[in-house]
Amino acid sequence: MKKFAIVAFMLSLLLALSACAETIKVGSSIDFPPYEYYDDETGDIVGIEIDIIHKIGEALGMDVEVQDMQFDSIIAAVVSGKVDVGVSGFTVTEERKQNVDFTTTYTTAKQSVIVTNDSPIQSVDDILNPENSWKIGVQIGTTSDLYITDDIDALGLPSTVERFNKSPDTVVALNSGKVDCVIVDDQVAIHFVQANEGLKLLDTAYVLEDYAFCFPKESPLYEDFNAALEALMADGTVQSIIDQYIVAE
Ligand code: ARG
Repeated sequence: MKKFAIVAFMLSLLLALSACAETIKVGSSIDFPPYEYYDDETGDIVGIEIDIIHKIGEALGMDVEVQDMQFDSIIAAVVSGKVDVGVSGFTVTEERKQNVDFTTTYTTAKQSVIVTNDSPIQSVDDILNPENSWKIGVQIGTTSDLYITDDIDALGLPSTVERFNKSPDTVVALNSGKVDCVIVDDQVAIHFVQANEGLKLLDTAYVLEDYAFCFPKESPLYEDFNAALEALMADGTVQSIIDQYIVAE
């Protein structure tokens, strides 16, 4: 009887402990190498931001659970509390800041343009020239989408924006001639060009941007999370993770 009581006590303690082990719920679109993607061989979710978020989890003594979702639904998932944080190559923008709080910027990026080797598009100016009409491929809801949509409006360009759910879908469309170019963040663009024959990057970048993670307003996790991120930036961990995935030219 005594034994049974001890086992029961241990079990209830275990249950109580597991309820305490808090989890950081992460919303991410796992289609964005080298930041977040599925490893071809293991099928695991890997990448720069995945490694950073696990380090932050370790620092805070919390588990990390990554949910793969469509990019354009992550901010809504963050705002509604379905996930605690958006970790998805997020660019800090004034518009997004109205709905979410961004952490400290941990790296920068550039919007870049991918074309086929034989493309008539030679520069960003060719894209912004009102005499040309192009089909421009972007991932829906990304800054690539927002910026080019704004430019087309502002400059009265005849070009159209073709929007795709997942980032690699844009490259499939470029390969099959459904779009004339793809706008996407530079490191992802470099990855796609390396993985697909017959594609190249334009020399000039389209827009420069800052990356950060996004939280709902007044999240109780924000301060600790951001402090852990800043500590990992200060001690060189973030840079060494980036260096593992991005080999400097
Ligand atoms: N940096 C861009 C943005 O914030 C693109 C991010 C796309 N991320 C992704 N995991 N597909 O809109």
